[in-house]
Amino acid sequence: MKEWESQLEIMPNSRTTAGRILHGSAIGRDDVRIDQYDGHWVVQTRGGTFPDELRGICPRLARSVWWKRLDKTDKTAPEWVEGERVEGKFLVAENDARYLIDFQAGYSQGMFLDQRLNREELARRTQEGDRVLNCFSYTCSFSVVAALAGATASSMDLSGRYLDWGKANFQINQLDPEDHYFCKGDVMDWLRRFAKQGRSFTGIILDPPTFSRNGKKVFKAEKNYAELVQLAAALLNEEGGWLLCSTNHHTLSEWSFEGMLYEGVDQAGRSLIESKAGQMPPEFRGDDYLKSFWLDVE
Ligand SMILES: C[S@@+](CC[C@H](N)C(=O)[O-])C[C@H]1O[C@@H](n2cnc3c(N)ncnc32)[C@H](O)[C@@H]1O
Repeated sequence: MKEWESQLEIMPNSRTTAGRILHGSAIGRDDVRIDQYDGHWVVQTRGGTFPDELRGICPRLARSVWWKRLDKTDKTAPEWVEGERVEGKFLVAENDARYLIDFQAGYSQGMFLDQRLNREELARRTQEGDRVLNCFSYTCSFSVVAALAGATASSMDLSGRYLDWGKANFQINQLDPEDHYFCKGDVMDWLRRFAKQGRSFTGIILDPPTFSRNGKKVFKAEKNYAELVQLAAALLNEEGGWLLCSTNHHTLSEWSFEGMLYEGVDQAGRSLIESKAGQMPPEFRGDDYLKSFWLDVE
């Protein structure tokens, strides 16, 4: 056994088959990240080549190994290194939910593993009959968790392809997508439309990208988050509700981010009852780049 192998994390429980198994220093460098998806590994490192020290691990440790550059400007899909050449979508599980993963889909494989604890908190919070709105839903992982807990989920994303992937995620969890809502388009536009329609929700998830462009419309987390919260808070049930607000903006301090959230709630004419910071899963080491707050609002 090589020295770095002793650092591999085990999955948080036996029902979970996707997660980060190495984050930080290994093989004499500090830029190694390894995520596993049902035995298929995605290794991330900086630099132009896959590290030789990480070769030769299939089938002993992994079914397959893929490599992705740890580089924000390089958005290409992972490259196959060794083992099974898994093609198309395959299944993983996290707690009671199952998700479809696809290594050929681009830079992201279908679920954001660093949101594990927020998905768990969502499952705890959600009750039968709740209405949960998942903005910037990507492949609808949060929506699946809410729906499995008995909520009607509404998922919003600019991408029809991701919403279709989300519907497939509902189906593999024995949830009928017809019982839920999928809204393709700009979140800000939809939130304004919902306000006009008098729609209201028990809880709303806001997990936008740091920067997004939709035609002439630009969303910048550091500039527009307060307005996003304002539009969302206005849609919470009259008797109160909750917001999950996340950002992975690296340079925005937790303090400034929280300030924008309070400003948004205030501008919606709502009152904050409690604000609780979400934690990053412990298997994600290093800086806490993902900032999350659960806000209870009335
Ligand atoms: C960071 S991902 C969200 C991850 C998701 N919350 C999860 O945990 O799986 C951002 C998503 O926002 C979508 N998006 C970006 N700008 C948008 C906009 N203006 N309106 C709606 N969706 C948008 C992207 O297509 C992408 O799927």
